[in-house]
Amino acid sequence: MPTPLLKVENLKKYFVIQTNLIGQPTLHLKATDGVSFELEEGKTLGVVGESGCGKTTMGRAVLRLWDVDGGRVVFNGERIDNIPKNQMRKYRTQMQIIFQDPYSSLPPRMNVGSIISEAVHVHGLVGGKPIGISELIGKYVISPIAKFVVNPIVKICKSLIHKVRYKLCKKYQARHDVLEAERLRDEEEARQLAEERANSPQNEEKKESVGSQKIIDETKDLKRPFFRSAVYAENLKRYTIEVMRECGLQPHFYERYPNEFSGGQRQRICIARALAVKPRLVVCDEPVSALDVSIQAQIINLLEDLQENFNLSFIFISHDLSVVHHISNDVAVMYLGSIVEKGPKVPMFKNPLHPYTKVLLDAVPDPDPRAKKEKSILRGDVPTPINMPKGCKFCTRCPHVLNVCHEIRPELVEIEPEHFVACHLHYDYYELTGTEISPEEKEKMYQKPEVKAVEEEQKTEEEVLIENALAEEKQKNQEEQPQE
Ligand SMILES: Nc1ncnc2c1ncn2[C@@H]1O[C@H](COP(=O)(O)OP(=O)(O)OP(=O)(O)O)[C@@H](O)[C@H]1O
Ligand code: SF4
Ligand SMILES: [Mg+2]
Repeated sequence: MPTPLLKVENLKKYFVIQTNLIGQPTLHLKATDGVSFELEEGKTLGVVGESGCGKTTMGRAVLRLWDVDGGRVVFNGERIDNIPKNQMRKYRTQMQIIFQDPYSSLPPRMNVGSIISEAVHVHGLVGGKPIGISELIGKYVISPIAKFVVNPIVKICKSLIHKVRYKLCKKYQARHDVLEAERLRDEEEARQLAEERANSPQNEEKKESVGSQKIIDETKDLKRPFFRSAVYAENLKRYTIEVMRECGLQPHFYERYPNEFSGGQRQRICIARALAVKPRLVVCDEPVSALDVSIQAQIINLLEDLQENFNLSFIFISHDLSVVHHISNDVAVMYLGSIVEKGPKVPMFKNPLHPYTKVLLDAVPDPDPRAKKEKSILRGDVPTPINMPKGCKFCTRCPHVLNVCHEIRPELVEIEPEHFVACHLHYDYYELTGTEISPEEKEKMYQKPEVKAVEEEQKTEEEVLIENALAEEKQKNQEEQPQE
């Protein structure tokens, strides 16, 4: 088995939510509580789970955007969970994140070129000649004049022209239509460009000789100059535009600001920003959840193409199981800060073992409206991550709960090759751990709790309504069937 690029063992991240008078923590929220997984180079691990189960916290802790409270994170054979923050700098180019919301994750006052090139400049990926005397004069005499005198005048003129143009558009709708048409045209151009590049006979050659990597290779002997020289600025711009092209963005977007883009285009900018530093691992935190379905497909295809071209590894966090099924090699299901089931995607989707995974899969809508599917409904409250149940974290909602589930927290156990599940239904805790127990006692532990009948009676009004609706739907389907 190849060495994994990323190995996470028993990762813990607790947030302090209460302190005493002298500032000592008295209450913790266990957002990520003992997560373990491995990720191979060029592969995708899909992470699913309901809102608040700790997916983002896990992703951030892996990248050391949060300090971890326990466990190990091994990246490319080196442990990174315990090294000082300043030593993390050398890993920052190798590990990147695409944030959940493309609207709030882009700085509104920076143009696209600066957003994408900022990290490239900070990490000195592209080099250039040092600054000369004439450039010094330009930079410290002419530029300030341009910046503080000429630019504001130009800006005022531009804004006046913009206002006049806006007023000339008789109705807001007309303006909106123009912008929408412009957006569609840009997207079509980007698509055509990507197609042309893919279909070109010298495609392979081009990728090696013209791509952004070529600019890094060309300039790697030249260091990043202390002052931005014209040559360096030119190299940086060329590189940024190349990265933009690779992510399906038009070069003329370079000077534009985030508010001038659609959601899909913004997400492409976020992807370009993450990929500009040539990472090996990217945490994609729900990169398509804020987008409509057609744009989701474009972004997913783009991520797949980039993964193939640059051998990227993804941790793909999502609520959407169909997207995870499409993009992932392995899948991990999280519940209240822990992984409850993980494995390769085929057995995970064909034969889910954990009751929670089954509920998640049942919730995926079927495209066939006549398809009959038994749906499981979750009852009970989600426990708070501050005060979790002693045994299985899912025991307050699980339809198959046993006495043992309330007492002993199940471990992740390999049930099929590489398919792990944390559930007492699938292994014998006492046999596995060698704990001694009398047969009667054991039988009692593996029985359903007696309180079940009482719980049945205590269905909430909402649950009764849902059940009635499902029963009605089922009856309707049965009535419709003979007519066909
Ligand atoms: N900075 C913080 N301080 C305290 N608690 C936090 C902090 N960030 C997250 N949490 C808590 O940690 C838990 C996990 O949050 P997280 O953002 O990781 O969930 P998530 O699975 O990504 O949810 P979603 O799918 O809605 O994005 C939540 O209960 C949240 O309230
Ligand atoms: S361990 Fe028990 S409560 Fe937890 S998922 Fe399995 S059956 Fe349900
Ligand atoms: Mg999140």
